[in-house]
Formats: sequence, structure tokens, C-alpha cells
Amino acid sequence: MDKKTFYITTPIYYPSDKLHIGHSYTTVAADAMARFKRLKGYDVHFLTGTDEHGQKIERRAIEAGSEPQVFVDEVVAWIKKLWSILDISYDDFIRTSEPRHKLSVQKMFQKYYEQGDIYKSKYEGWYCTPCEAFWTERQLDAGSCPDCKRPVELLAEESYFFKMSRYAGRLMEYIDKNPDFIQPASRKNEMINNFLKPGLEDLCVSRTTFKWGIPVPFDEGHIIYVWLDALSNYITALGYASEDEEKLNRYWPADVQLIGKEIVRFHTIYWPIFLMALGLELPKKVFGHGWLLLDEGKMSKSKGNVIDPVVLVDRYGSDAIRYFLLREIPFGADGSFSEEALVLRLNFDLANDLGNLLNRTLAMLEKYFQGNVPQPGDEDKHDEELKQAALTLPARMEGLMDQLQFSGALAELWKFIGNANKYIDDTAPWALAKSGRQERLATVMYNLLECIRIVSVLLQPYMPRTPQKIWQQLGIAGIKETQSWESLSKFGVFPAGVKTSPGEVLFPRLELTGEGGAPVRQATKKDKPQLQSAPDGDKNEDTGLVSIEEFSRLDLRVARIITAERIEGADKLLKLKVDLGSEERQVVAGIAKHYLPEQLVEKRVLFVANLKPAKLRGILSEGMLLAASDSSGRLVLTTTEEAVAPGSKVR
Ligand code: ME8
Ligand code: MG
Repeated sequence: MDKKTFYITTPIYYPSDKLHIGHSYTTVAADAMARFKRLKGYDVHFLTGTDEHGQKIERRAIEAGSEPQVFVDEVVAWIKKLWSILDISYDDFIRTSEPRHKLSVQKMFQKYYEQGDIYKSKYEGWYCTPCEAFWTERQLDAGSCPDCKRPVELLAEESYFFKMSRYAGRLMEYIDKNPDFIQPASRKNEMINNFLKPGLEDLCVSRTTFKWGIPVPFDEGHIIYVWLDALSNYITALGYASEDEEKLNRYWPADVQLIGKEIVRFHTIYWPIFLMALGLELPKKVFGHGWLLLDEGKMSKSKGNVIDPVVLVDRYGSDAIRYFLLREIPFGADGSFSEEALVLRLNFDLANDLGNLLNRTLAMLEKYFQGNVPQPGDEDKHDEELKQAALTLPARMEGLMDQLQFSGALAELWKFIGNANKYIDDTAPWALAKSGRQERLATVMYNLLECIRIVSVLLQPYMPRTPQKIWQQLGIAGIKETQSWESLSKFGVFPAGVKTSPGEVLFPRLELTGEGGAPVRQATKKDKPQLQSAPDGDKNEDTGLVSIEEFSRLDLRVARIITAERIEGADKLLKLKVDLGSEERQVVAGIAKHYLPEQLVEKRVLFVANLKPAKLRGILSEGMLLAASDSSGRLVLTTTEEAVAPGSKVR
């Protein structure tokens, strides 16, 4: 049987300037999806490219003093290099200035004309060149482009028009019958209410006042509207109207078209109508993701141009940047990009959670088994839970991926990493070694290695380089059967007898060294973050010893963290709400550099309940969390050996 196909596209990028990290967001997401489906065994076709025509690009070329083709060639070469350093595994890269595209688009235009979809008239109205969009007087927002708010220009020129109204009813029907077509649903409603319901106007599809584009085949003074030109790329790249339509037959309709939310209108109204007029099927899903908000002023002032993806990759590595983009912001929502948030993520998720799991495991294996992977022996209840989690993980991640929930899928993977780390604490291999329980110790070590293997297999779509490095250290780099999707259907695939080779730390902890400084590996830490303490705390001028009476004045309790959130303008502090059994408290804790808010929820921690209330940054804090701090400045929250009810007294 033929493999199932999967066709995924990104928008084609304007080669008007170098791309920033926001552009990389769409492409990294599409790449993760493409790799995920390849891992699952699909015949994947992943398309990206560049949108090279139109007035905007022509003007940029003139500004740069180049011919448009020379200008775009340079930027396109740069874009391809960027995709290569970000490990973007596209199967095809289409440039709209290529003959294969231009010829197809001209044939399409001819067909529309012959079918009576296109007629000649005169356009009088407004145009936004940055968006390459036509607007009527009534659609303008205080005289500016309603999308980008920039100034518009008045056009009056002879043009061809496309009869959108012919297809509007069929499009409405399609949208109604296919609830998955436009995602997320909020964007669908916007399209229906703002554009389809009020009635579609015919669209101007040619211009005569500039030259850089595809000429109308039967009227050469006219240049085909750049959005008609650009949208067609998704099928011209498959060979539409060429001698070879094999790819078109194999991959169309697209399974997923990823785009940013500002171009949803073009992709869910114009694009489907252009397709209908060609008699082609519509894409199965168009997903409009949110924006990565770039606090440019702040960034460029203090830290150099960190929105430049090349600089970021150079500083942190492509896997780390990919991980951050996919994990930090739920796909669909807007989110902001900051280097601080990046460093926190990398430290928590990569250095701590994943890095520690690998390092602890390999170090123990070295110590107890000289690095040789043992046969597993006897089992107990902890093993069963871990195995269940491992075996159900791939399907859970796939379900989330099918909904484009990259962040959710990674959260599942990290939950499993958390399970494995907890398994170490629960089984306490050091205690097994001490009491000579060799067989049990062998099982525990084997299971940990198997968990790391499973994690590394599922990590491939998101971080394509890291799994290789993990396999090197695990000693399974050459054993392909341990790296496939199929290998996830069993627990116990890791070959016993392999010799591991612990190597470099994969993700060293990073620290932001103040204003203007690039982050460096954490070596010393002068400004140890403090847990909050009362501003007017007792001064102890005696021997430093306390009596049991003095100690008993402290009301120490177990608190359960209910919510945790960042405090604007205070990068070390988090605002928490905690449950003390009989009451709830608000506290401000200086742990923001050590824990992400979401990691704290539901944690049970030791708590000083009768500390004098204080205000930090104007926020009332009643109590204090207790944490251990080691010489490196790391802060680890304290808890009880087993879970006890919130409010329980500590003494
Ligand atoms: O729109 N956050 O090209 P483009 C998230 N050529 N995504 C962002 C972003 C940000 N800060 N900035 C840009 C075009 N993007 C047309 C497309 S398709 C037939 C033609 C995303 O280079 C943006 O949302 O302006 C879009 O999906 C992509 O980058 C290309 O943007
Ligand atoms: Mg844009």
C-alpha cells in the first residue's frame, strides 16, 4: 500500500529585508510538524519559499539601488541560509520569480478570463503597499490601512477584476460544513462576520503602474496582482498546469497551511475562491497563528539585535531556539519574545529537567555498573506507572500535534521527563546500591535509560540535533531500531550490554550578565537571589544559638501553591497564592529565576506562616517559602518526604 501523504506549507516570505525571529516562528512550527509526520511514516511534502513580486519589493530594490531580481536574489540566498542554520527540512523551496511558477500563474489567469471570472474595468480606491492590499474608503481606519495602520495610497488605473461574488455562497457553505477548515475558530468567525456576511466585492487582480511582476498573458501592460501570484505558489510548486502534475495529484489538497493571523483573510477568502474557480479541492486546514511580539526598543537598546535569528542561534544553538519558539507560546495566541524568558526556559527545561535526567542517570550507571547497561531484573509498582506513561505518551503527543498544539505536545514530553526524574527520587538507586540490591538497581537503571531513549525519539521533530548527541552518550547512535516511531510501541527496546559514554553537558546553565551582556555559562553568582525576608528582621547579636522556645515561636506549615504569576518589572519575584488548609495567603517570593510559575502550581512547600507581613513592590506578602540554596546559587524549594495535607505543622 502507498504511504499516506501529508502536505504542509508555510507562507512564502517577502524578501524585502532580512527576516527576524517572528518569521522563523511559522517555519520552525511547520518544520516540527513535517518532521513529526515523517517520524510517523507519512510521505511528507513540506513547502516554503519567497514572495518576490509586487510594488513593495520593487520599491525596496530601487531604495537599495539594485535591479529587483538582483536585490531579491541576495535576500533569498540569505533566507535559505537562515533556514539551513535552523535545520528547516523543506522538501521544496519555491521562488515566485522562477519560470515554473510564472508560467503556471499565467495559465491560471488565462483560464479565469476564458471562464468569465475576470473582466476589465477601472480601479479607483486605496492601496496599502506594505500589505499589498486594496481597501475601499469605508474600510479605512481613520484614513489608514485597517490591518497595519500605515498610510494608504490613492489609485486610479485600468485593471482586471475577479468576480468574487460568484463564489461567495459556495465558500460560506464550505466553511459551515468543514469546521476544521479555518483554525482557530475565533479567526473563522471574524472572516464570516467582517467579510463574508457584508458581501464580497469583486477583487482587483492586476496593476499597470509598476513593472515588477507577472504580466497578464493577453494584455502585457498589466501585472498580475501580487496576492493572486503569491497564493498560487502552493499549487504551482506541485506542478499545476505544467507537463508534470504528478505531485499535484499526490499531495493536493494540502493537509495544513500555516500562516500568521494578519494574512488569514487572503488565505481563507481569496485563496479558496481562486481554487474553486480552478475546480480544485480546498485545503483541509488553514491555521492562523498569533504573533511573537518583539519589544524592539528595549531589546535593541540593551542587548544588541537579539531579534536577529542568526544572532540567537549563534548564541544559544538552533535546537534551543526552536524549543523556545515551540514551547513558550501556545500556537494561536500572541506571545512576547524576550531573552530573559528564553534563558529561563532553557535553564529550567533543558539544563535542569532534561540535562539532569541524562547526567544523573549516566553518572549512576558509571558508578554502579561501570557504564554498562544491565539486563533488567525484578520489578515493582513504580515501574508499572512509568511504563504506562511511556507507552501512552506517543499517542497523546500526536493528538496534540494534530491540533497544532506544539506547546502542549512538548509539555506532555516534559511531564514524562518529570516522571522519570521522580522515579529516580522514588526508587533511590543510591540506597539500593548501599543495601546491595543489585538486581533491583539494574532494573531501575535500565528503565531510566529506556525512558531517556523514548524521550530522545520523540524529541526529534522539535530539536533535531539533540537526539543524536543523546544517542552518542547512550551508546545507541548506530542502532537505528532504537530511534524509530515503531520502537515506542514497546517498553524495553534499549539493548542491554551496550556501553554508554557520558560526554559534554548538553545544556549548560546560562545566566544573563546584566545590561548589554550576552548570557554566559553560569560560573559564579554574585547576586544570589534572596527569598523575601521581612525588611526589619531581628538582629541576632548573641552566639547565634536559639532555644527550643525561641524556635517554637516560628509557625512553620506545609503550604500548597494554588497560583503563581510573574510580577511586571520585578524579574526575581513571583506572586503566589497558597493554601494553608484553613486559609489562603498571598506571598511574594524571590524565586522567579529558579522556577517557572506553571512549575509551582500544586507543589507543597515548607512555609513560615507567622512572618510579619511586608509589601514588596507594593504587593502584600504574608509569609515565606523555605528553600535550600547551594554554593552555585541554585535555589530549591523544600517539601516533606511524603505528601501531607496543606496546613500541617512543621516542627
Ligand atoms: O505575509 N510573529 O510575507 P511576510 C509571528 N508574502 N509571525 C510573524 C511575525 C511575528 N512577529 N512576523 C512575521 C507575507 N510573521 C506574504 C505571504 S503567502 C501566499 C504570502 C509571519 O514575509 C507572518 O505572519 O510578511 C507570515 O505568516 C510570515 O511570517 C510571512 O510574512
Ligand atoms: Mg508581513
